Amino acid sequence: MSEPLSKRKKVHVKTLNKMKNGGEPLSWITAYDYPMSSAVEEAGIDMILVGDSGGMVQLGYTTTNPVTMDEMITMTKAVRRGAPNTFIVGDMPQGSYEIGDKEAVQSALRFAKESLCDAVKLEGGRRVRSQIKSIVDAGILTIGHLGLTPQSASSFGGYSVQGKTQESFEEIFEDALAVQDAGACALLLEAMPSEPAGQIARQLKIPVYGIGAGNCVDGQLIILHDMIGLYPVFRPYFAKNYIPTIMDDFSKYINSFEDIKKLGRESQRDGLFVMVKMAVESYIKDVKSKKFPSVEFSYPIKDEHLKDLRKSKFWSSARSHERGILSDQSLTC
Ligand code: KIV
Repeated sequence: MSEPLSKRKKVHVKTLNKMKNGGEPLSWITAYDYPMSSAVEEAGIDMILVGDSGGMVQLGYTTTNPVTMDEMITMTKAVRRGAPNTFIVGDMPQGSYEIGDKEAVQSALRFAKESLCDAVKLEGGRRVRSQIKSIVDAGILTIGHLGLTPQSASSFGGYSVQGKTQESFEEIFEDALAVQDAGACALLLEAMPSEPAGQIARQLKIPVYGIGAGNCVDGQLIILHDMIGLYPVFRPYFAKNYIPTIMDDFSKYINSFEDIKKLGRESQRDGLFVMVKMAVESYIKDVKSKKFPSVEFSYPIKDEHLKDLRKSKFWSSARSHERGILSDQSLTC
């Protein structure tokens, strides 16, 4: 198990750039409540997202669209109490930033002030450039989100993989530049094959993280409920369930208790909290060693599509810098 919490150093925005430049992948996970965020912080995660996915996995809505700012603030406040030493990103819910700059700044200020999150995240590129700039100008760190953007999924035909065609790649690339130019401190790409996502990560100055965007980006995000099998409705193709990987270690841990009779009575470290912590530790290890996501958890791209992407004016043929991509995974970054 990892070092006690007190020995951890909190990640700050400068650390994000340092990690990108040093080639250390950032580990990022969602959390929506006090016990889970405590376990995640103890495991040593770099960053937590209180996603509006909490509307689905925690509150039981069928999409993220009904989530309100009040609900986001309640969840984020609980996460902050559980993870006082972790960089926390709060997700701006649909309806809190699209109308204009003033509304976006008011929402972001309220979110940061009441929940004490370290940064906010919002979906979109060129269409929200001005909102990102205004929020950043108001002194709030902002993270962009492109590729599959769940809040507007219905407007581009549902939850489908993005960036596979030249047109789609170029749209996302131009949006990514707009997010960077507006002053965002990082960008998240969702549901894209590794190669186009890696191109964007390589060419942007700001860190570019991925969820279902392969192994060529600057760090990974995963939804906690997907990786511990706690959302019975659906698990995305790219999310690995870490519970089977820790069962042996958990049994050894339980069996190594000095006084087994005390388990379940005097010990609180005998159940789900420890299992979640172990699962997150295993995820962090895999992210740092670039074992996750392997090919099995990355979207494939056809050769003819890749050939087409390589003809794009935004495709850089400069050699990938040493990101340590595992050769046996045959990912070309
Ligand atoms: O809400 C969320 O958790 C997210 C991820 C799906 C990227 O935005």
